[in-house]
Amino acid sequence: MSPRSMLVTSALPYANGQIHLGHMLEHIQSDIFVRYQRAIGNEVYYVCADDCHGTPIMLKANQLGISPEELIEQIGISHRKDFEQFFISYDNYYRTHSPENQHFSEEIYKKLKENGYITTKTIKQLYDPVKNMFLPDRFVKGTCPRCGAQDQYGDNCEVCSATYDPTELKDAYSVVSGAKPILKESLHYFFDLPKFKDFLHDYIQNSKVLSSEMANKLEEWFKQGLKDWDLSRDAPYFGFKIPDTEDKYFYVWLDAPIGYMASFKNYCDKTGVNFEEFFKEGSTKELYHFIGKDILYFHSLFWPATLKGSGHRVPTGLFVHGYVTVNGTKMSKSKGTFIQASTYLKHLKPECLRYYFASKMNNSAVDLDLALDDFVAKVNSDIVGKTVNLASRTAGFITKRFNGKLASKVYDETLQQKAASILDKVKDAYENRNYAEAIREIMTLADEANRFIAREAPWVLAKDESQNEKLHLVCTQGLNLFKAIITYLSPVLPQVYKESCEFLNSDLKFEEAGVPLLDHEINKFKPLFTRVDPKDVEAMVEESKQDLKAQNAKPQAQKKDEKKESTEGGYIPLDPEITIDDFVKLDLRVGTILEAEEVKEARKLLKLKVDLGFETRQIFAGIKSAYEATSLVGRKVIVVANLKPRQMKFGLSEGMVMAAGEGGQEIFLLNVDDGAKNGDKVH
Ligand code: MSP
Ligand code: ZN
Repeated sequence: MSPRSMLVTSALPYANGQIHLGHMLEHIQSDIFVRYQRAIGNEVYYVCADDCHGTPIMLKANQLGISPEELIEQIGISHRKDFEQFFISYDNYYRTHSPENQHFSEEIYKKLKENGYITTKTIKQLYDPVKNMFLPDRFVKGTCPRCGAQDQYGDNCEVCSATYDPTELKDAYSVVSGAKPILKESLHYFFDLPKFKDFLHDYIQNSKVLSSEMANKLEEWFKQGLKDWDLSRDAPYFGFKIPDTEDKYFYVWLDAPIGYMASFKNYCDKTGVNFEEFFKEGSTKELYHFIGKDILYFHSLFWPATLKGSGHRVPTGLFVHGYVTVNGTKMSKSKGTFIQASTYLKHLKPECLRYYFASKMNNSAVDLDLALDDFVAKVNSDIVGKTVNLASRTAGFITKRFNGKLASKVYDETLQQKAASILDKVKDAYENRNYAEAIREIMTLADEANRFIAREAPWVLAKDESQNEKLHLVCTQGLNLFKAIITYLSPVLPQVYKESCEFLNSDLKFEEAGVPLLDHEINKFKPLFTRVDPKDVEAMVEESKQDLKAQNAKPQAQKKDEKKESTEGGYIPLDPEITIDDFVKLDLRVGTILEAEEVKEARKLLKLKVDLGFETRQIFAGIKSAYEATSLVGRKVIVVANLKPRQMKFGLSEGMVMAAGEGGQEIFLLNVDDGAKNGDKVH
């Protein structure tokens, strides 16, 4: 069978907030699918982007005193960084505020108009009489007209997933000012969705684009009847202007899915891949969108209809997932369970979350619970206890006793056969996004492998010279079982897999997971994974509570951090210009580090005692990744000495030591030439 060719996307995160573990579910789910498809030799393009338009982003930028362009630039950097650190393997991560997207949005709109699908009518729309602006859907709240849930947004209901017009909300109020909105007239542009009813019905019910669970959900929507879709918004709006209008903009949900195309186009232009092949009508290339259940309406009705109506292909599959809950309830900021990706990464390894989500993920849209105790237990038991331990208990003997060389035959053929025989089941499970099933199969094999090692007890064999050959065979088999397991897990644990390839000195192929390495030289074993300490989880939850406080206190707080990584152009954009008056507000002093010790519970922090001449300060510095505590004692540093002291979980931090670099190992403390004394001011 010739390899398949597909384009895969995750939903485009809004550019007004940080990536959290809810988003991560989707990106991990799609990344596992993509890595699996690549591993079995299919051609896969995997793209995403930030969704940059709309009023929330415009207002957020206003609030921060920066332009929307600056905001999306900064957020884009931090989103990309988060996904990269979770090993999400995008071929392209772009933004919807781009020339490509503007081009396609206009082109598609024009086609829809030519084909008679665009109508206009003057509507009465909710208007904030205090702020003098029309209130876009998300800035009106009230009671859902369908299910009666309170405090729902004006465009759709998060409880029953209905979409509706904001004027249909009961007891509406403006989110911007709290005022009761008034109705005001304005000319709007509509997409004639009802014209696509038969096409969409047939598409949803007959082409297997959705699971039957989701197709049934849509049946309800068809019964309620499809309505014209209002795709214009009045100025002020951050978005693309509608061609041939003065002050009308495309509603963000018109250009957002087109952002999938635009990101792919941007990639194609850089690489020479044929874009047309993928989006032309009747394309045989596969197109899959991973989405949450809250955005099903947009992806299963509006999006295929806009594609169809403008002469393009429609998606092959919509893969819908549920929501992440933590410890059984909705992620909550006050409980510290609304966890940002970057906060998670400060305390825990990305692959722990990848593994845990995968182990509970199937292709239904039910919610997935991140039960934190279970998370620690499962990761420690499966990855460390059952998998990595297979290697750590056998590799040493191969290295020390057999010159690093594996035996030339298989000891227990039946067991090795078992390792090979689960291939088809594992493949089916990954293909159908039933990762929990894949992991169950793989862990059953791991259990057998561990029973084998326990039974054959290489550490006992090693004591008896006459058992040397058996020791060789048993350890070889243990490592080959490890090889099978880690190769089957490679879409889930890409980094451990990569390090295992280095350790086993072989480019491990997915479909040959069960084929043993024999008469083969391996490298020395290095620890591949360490146990999760429940304290790290506690620290993460604690810090998530702090994140909330920081966000409430000053929205600017994260700006600096997000900019740490350089942009594609190779340097971090300069901050806005300041005057000398701004500069002199900083009181920088020379100091000497008297003591330095690691803060055990924090991955990044060292606790320092710094002598400033006139007094000694305790400072927590996020430099653990780059400096050994002991190497710092006696060293001169520059301290921001008039920084407001900050109460941290581990104690009071009374200042900041200055350093350059991007973080991680790239942190370089500032030095001062000989002669400077503690307490000297830096001018
Ligand atoms: N910008 C739109 C998507 C446009 S796609 C053309 C959007 N953005 S979002 O940032 O709100 O959500 C992005 C994705 O993350 C959606 O698929 C959404 O379902 C998913 N999730 C957001 N919070 C989630 C959880 N708590 N749990 C699981 N997924 C969640 O919608
Ligand atoms: Zn509702």
